[in-house]
Amino acid sequence: MDVRVEDGTQGSAAQQQAQKAPPCALVIFGAGGDLTKRLLMPAIYNLSKAKLLSDKFAIIAVDRTPKPIEAYREYLADGIRSFVSDTASGPATEPFDAQAWDFVASRISHFAGDLTKPDTYARLHQTHEKIAAEHQTGANAVFYLAVGSQLFGTIVEQLGAAGLVQENNGSFRRVIIEKPFGSDLASARALNAQILRVLSESQIYRMDHFLGKETVQNIMVLRFANGIFEPMWNRDHIDHVQISVAETVGVERRARFYEATGALRDMVPNHVFQLLSLIAMGPPNSFAADAVRTEKHKVLEALHPLDVAEVRRNVVRGQYGRGLLNGNPVPAYREEPGVAPDSVTETYVAMQLGIDNWRWAGVPFYLRTGKRMTRRTTEIAIQFKQAPFALFRNTPVDTLTPNVLALQIQPDEGASMQFSAKIPGPEISLGGVRMNFSYKDYFNTEPTTGYETLVYDCMIGDAMLFNRADAVEAGWAVVQPILDLWRNDKTAPLEIYPAGSAGPEAADTLLWRSGRQWRPIT
Ligand code: BG6
Repeated sequence: MDVRVEDGTQGSAAQQQAQKAPPCALVIFGAGGDLTKRLLMPAIYNLSKAKLLSDKFAIIAVDRTPKPIEAYREYLADGIRSFVSDTASGPATEPFDAQAWDFVASRISHFAGDLTKPDTYARLHQTHEKIAAEHQTGANAVFYLAVGSQLFGTIVEQLGAAGLVQENNGSFRRVIIEKPFGSDLASARALNAQILRVLSESQIYRMDHFLGKETVQNIMVLRFANGIFEPMWNRDHIDHVQISVAETVGVERRARFYEATGALRDMVPNHVFQLLSLIAMGPPNSFAADAVRTEKHKVLEALHPLDVAEVRRNVVRGQYGRGLLNGNPVPAYREEPGVAPDSVTETYVAMQLGIDNWRWAGVPFYLRTGKRMTRRTTEIAIQFKQAPFALFRNTPVDTLTPNVLALQIQPDEGASMQFSAKIPGPEISLGGVRMNFSYKDYFNTEPTTGYETLVYDCMIGDAMLFNRADAVEAGWAVVQPILDLWRNDKTAPLEIYPAGSAGPEAADTLLWRSGRQWRPIT
């Protein structure tokens, strides 16, 4: 993540000024998978379009089965074409840029092998040397693990055994590891230990694609490039914080993965905690990767550990039943293909957490995330405390509009501030009003997958937007008591909410009991 100061009205000028990435080979494991086609390759194409790739760049696409290179390139080009014509991926539809794609396509080679066999890596070593000579990529390489999480440890061990991750004479060898990083605290610890036997922490780039989103990165800029927020950013002024990640999609074709995962593992220790830690962290000493990651880790470490009674009281799990989405009937989770008819996998989770430190003691953080909700929206709302006393007649202080700073992460990108204003007329009466900032009004944004920044940052060696081992483990440590209770207590409630709703009523109770309420998902 690069820092530059621009006048917002100058549009996307800043995007065009970044330096090209250094020469390197990108070795993609899982080259035939959905992630590579849908997200990774469109991101590489966008980097090519923005002229951010070195001329000395090459891709080795690793898959289990051989594929003729022309057929593979065409398969990827299909993915790019549907990305550029998909309005959901960004505000504008751009024509397919054949030149940008040719730059990438001409540098791709395909490599087949069984990822569990040492022989594959010995051959890969030779192929890499050949490609590196052909495309003058030097010794630099990024290994991207876009495969099932069960293969992460094996691939890293095999890369190590084949001498593929050894850094010589100033060259780099980095490994990007997709999510999920473990499925609980013990497995995350074991995976960290396994890969740290082969790699140094500085070679590991643990991916959380939420950190690639512009609006997520903007949280830090909003907080630390503006003097007005920090003095109020604490328990003296903030009443509570709400983080909502609502999706309209259901389980889609991922039942096998999702049945064993559920909303808690899928979203909370990673994406939701990224948002929480960026909101709650203290100002870092510098904008260097480790300074920022240290502050984020401190927040996760300070999250109040939940005991059994607190899990029961402060955590709600839900699962969508049948319902209507945009007027169309949709099936219940248990009726989705591949889902057990008596499944207790949660598709929704809400919780109240506290942070045990001086800045946040006593300030509730309410988190919720769910599938098949009424609308797709990710929002962080910071609600400030009420004015201390009722100065205006007939407007008791508890009926005043609360001051809320709402950060809209997606799909609308921006921020708004809600406050009270006088309703015009002879009498003093107050109404809630809102000041809005929308990204698209100030900056030219083009469709992105969010992976562009992350892949580019890895190539330039900036790990700020990647997860460090300690933060991953701290995140799992917070959710572990919840996983334990749900596993051990078969009577723990599972609230069924109608698809197309705002989630189960039990989640409203979490806030009502202290006189608060969720912001509407609109
Ligand atoms: C993924 C989860 O990590 O994030 C999905 O596995 C979820 O279940 C997705 O839908 C949400 O990401 P985005 O970028 O679409 O908000």
